[in-house]
Amino acid sequence: MADLNELSEKLGGIKAEIKEELSKLETSKSVFEYKKAIFDSKAGKVGSLMREMGKIPNEMKAEYGKRVNELKNWAQEKFDEMDAKFKAEEMRLKYESEKIDVTMPGQVRKQGFLHPNTLVRNRIVDIFGSMGFEIFEGTEIETDYYNFTALNTPDDHPARDMQDTFYLSDKFLLRTQTSAGQIHVMEKEQPPIKIISPGKVFRSDDDATHSPMFSQMEGLVVDKGITLCDLKGMLDEFVQKIFGEGVSTRLRPSYFPFTEPSVEVDVSCFQCHGKGCKLCKGTGWIEVLGAGVVNKKVLEGCGIDSDVYSGFAFGIGIERIAMLKYGINNIKHLFESDLRVLEQIRE
Ligand code: PHE
Repeated sequence: MADLNELSEKLGGIKAEIKEELSKLETSKSVFEYKKAIFDSKAGKVGSLMREMGKIPNEMKAEYGKRVNELKNWAQEKFDEMDAKFKAEEMRLKYESEKIDVTMPGQVRKQGFLHPNTLVRNRIVDIFGSMGFEIFEGTEIETDYYNFTALNTPDDHPARDMQDTFYLSDKFLLRTQTSAGQIHVMEKEQPPIKIISPGKVFRSDDDATHSPMFSQMEGLVVDKGITLCDLKGMLDEFVQKIFGEGVSTRLRPSYFPFTEPSVEVDVSCFQCHGKGCKLCKGTGWIEVLGAGVVNKKVLEGCGIDSDVYSGFAFGIGIERIAMLKYGINNIKHLFESDLRVLEQIRE
């Protein structure tokens, strides 16, 4: 560098170039990139000026340093200015694009809910759970022995015709009733026994009130001195909890091979309170479940002394209760998963 004039010219040139370049930039990012390049200590037009100090004659060094610093400071200020300007604009655009119109209608998200069958099953489990019943869960594939023979329904017994059975082989079948669970429990445990057993059951049956697959809740109590009165008292409590205060039960003679005596249990109509309506078909009563005193033959077959112990059992159809409780007139509605139907049933 020969003299200060030459230096002035060179620095002036750099300054003009920076001004020119900056006028072309449009984003804070490009300002950042440009600044990095300019200040680069090796290749940068401003950054490299300090490295040239060695080549400057001694008497010029002080002035050279001062002017280079001035240029650096000037450039830094320019970059800061541009950076602030672009950033402000960029933030403005970002806020603009993210603006929320709070007057727009919201997106309606559908809320999940429990299926009526699940609601009824949970409710029944809660009610009997609060009475001290334990839960036993059996299997859907059963042997002929547990589903029929041990329940006092041997091979040639006419009661086998009461339920159309899906046989899987000579020995195995899809259980037709949760009563099979009674035998499993009584084989394993000695009284006192107090269990409920929920589950799916299968019968070759298909119309508006019957489905080839449906759900039952079995109940079994075995202890000293258990009678039909205990069953009736417990059922009265149960129907009030499920259908509402003020309803009661009535027992009608019936037949099941594994209970003696056997009963059909009716509940007084919770819609018309006995006056007679469409739901109870004008009778004031609605059939809700089958029950009875456990047949002595069944107790003995499971190794329980029937002179010491007695028991009662009952079997509730979950879908039947759900249909009554929620006014559903076709059992298929409970299996079709049609949201137009299911959405009407909330608890
Ligand atoms: N298992 C019988 C049925 O499915 C119902 C029942 C259970 C009856 C327990 C008496 C005792 O029809």
